[in-house]
Amino acid sequence: MQQFGLKLAANLQIGDLIILEGPLGAGKTRLAQSIGKGLLVKSEITSPTFVIVKNYQGRTPFIHADAYRLLDSPIGGLQDLDLDTENSVTVVEWGKNFANQLNDQYLQITISIIDEFKRELKVSSVGERWKSLNL
Ligand SMILES: Nc1ncnc2c1ncn2[C@@H]1O[C@H](COP(=O)(O)OP(=O)(O)O)[C@@H](O)[C@H]1O
Ligand SMILES: [Mg+2]
Repeated sequence: MQQFGLKLAANLQIGDLIILEGPLGAGKTRLAQSIGKGLLVKSEITSPTFVIVKNYQGRTPFIHADAYRLLDSPIGGLQDLDLDTENSVTVVEWGKNFANQLNDQYLQITISIIDEFKRELKVSSVGERWKSLNL
């Protein structure tokens, strides 16, 4: 997971949106942490479940969001939070229903739990930006 996150991060640029799906404990936060590390974020990246959004600075601004608490919420979604996604790399856990509010192009990574230590990643994408991505 760590290696994948670092490799992915090396390919990311300002404006990119990454959606992370998968059940609780799948490793979405772990993956977001390694993406942040790959983006050279120096401060500790902690789960944004309770605050929904955390902002960091690495080689680019890095937004780490968790939309879990918005799934059943009367608040419309992430578009009300004024995220500066155009000038950042953005990772949203549980974000698939909100992706369209943030960007018309995005990479979606769905994590399945195989066993205690093993995970399977399914990568899909929307938009031209991701067509040439080679991981
Ligand atoms: N290969 C792996 N990749 C990611 N996490 C793993 C892996 N194997 C075990 N884990 C454990 O699974 C948990 C994933 O937690 P977390 O990243 O918070 O999940 P989520 O954000 O999807 O709820 C962590 O406790 C981590 O140590
Ligand atoms: Mg999480």
